[in-house]
Amino acid sequence: MKPIELKKGIYWVGVVDWNVRSFHGHTYTTKRGTTYNAYLIVDEKICLVDTVFGPFAGEMIARIREIVDPARIDYIIANHVETDHSGALPALMRLCPQAIVLGTEKCKEGLYKHYFGDWTFQVVKTGDTLSLGKRSLTFMEAPMIHWPDSMFTYCPQEELLLPNDAFGQHLASSERFDDEVDQCALMDEAKTYYANILWPLSTLILRKLEEVRKLDLAISMIAPSHGIIWRKDPLKIVHAYAAWAKQEPADKVVIAYETMWGATERMARAISEGLRDAGVEFALYNVAETDRTQVITEMLDAKGFLFGSSTHDNDMLPAIAGFLELVKGFKPKKRLAGAFGSYGWAGGAVKEIEAVVKEAGIEPALPSLGIRFMPDEKELKACYQFGVDFGMKIKGG
Ligand code: FEO
Repeated sequence: MKPIELKKGIYWVGVVDWNVRSFHGHTYTTKRGTTYNAYLIVDEKICLVDTVFGPFAGEMIARIREIVDPARIDYIIANHVETDHSGALPALMRLCPQAIVLGTEKCKEGLYKHYFGDWTFQVVKTGDTLSLGKRSLTFMEAPMIHWPDSMFTYCPQEELLLPNDAFGQHLASSERFDDEVDQCALMDEAKTYYANILWPLSTLILRKLEEVRKLDLAISMIAPSHGIIWRKDPLKIVHAYAAWAKQEPADKVVIAYETMWGATERMARAISEGLRDAGVEFALYNVAETDRTQVITEMLDAKGFLFGSSTHDNDMLPAIAGFLELVKGFKPKKRLAGAFGSYGWAGGAVKEIEAVVKEAGIEPALPSLGIRFMPDEKELKACYQFGVDFGMKIKGG
């Protein structure tokens, strides 16, 4: 793939990783692959904004060579330390050792602790600018969106925002722009990205969006570091982020469970019938079978979570336990939750679920439901009623 010109003299020189299927240490499955986007700005000075994951350094450098000799690069903006964006720096710096790397103070520390490079580093802060000739770049620190070092770069002359991970999607494609790809896949991956990476940072994101709004920046293009570039309607993703970050979920319930011999699954299905008859939308997933990245995405706009597990060694089963560890870290707001599960002689699973739900900052909306061995007809009716009661709470009853 040749470099792609986004604006006159500004090129995508990233790579498409079609085959990556897990991210962040297997906490996130990337069913559509991803891209690592780097952008080359050719002006009186030559500037590269971010690099790519290390194994792809050669491909990025080859793409840069199509435009300029990499030895001519004057500046490299490191918006973020994480290795999927900085991994190619050591290889690149060998070709342009005179280049100045710019980033936040935390970025300087982080890059050194990753690569131990003897590079010239210029620390930048919010409001600092860098002149490239006809164009300039302005920097905006964005701590914890999503690492302490994170930063956005903005080019006012081109109305171009380069926000690194923010507004990205794990979506490999032969195309580079939002008007060239399937909109459902694009927004699905943008939502998946938000739910699985940014959800716990929602309060900070709302604050940052407000800060950017007050600056009244003209933005005609948003070029993130993963996936598709927003040029047709860049504010579409900004508005979507604002809606997700506000955490105003819909009257919808996600039932996530794990079952040993099918009893907890029968309970889950009976509960779902009650939710349906209460008029509440629901989705039901066995987390031992379903991609948890998908389940978490579904939970982003659901007001209710019902978690179920059979009891094993007086505890939860391992897949739902691991799943809840992830959910706990999201600290979801404005949610209702409940626990259910079958047991043989001790019902420890529901107590464990209740404990994790409370740690996540959610008070259980109704007493947990435990049933010994297989639910009989009467017990299935109790499960159904549990679903109805939870559904009524979701609807505010
Ligand atoms: Fe935070 Fe795409 O790395």
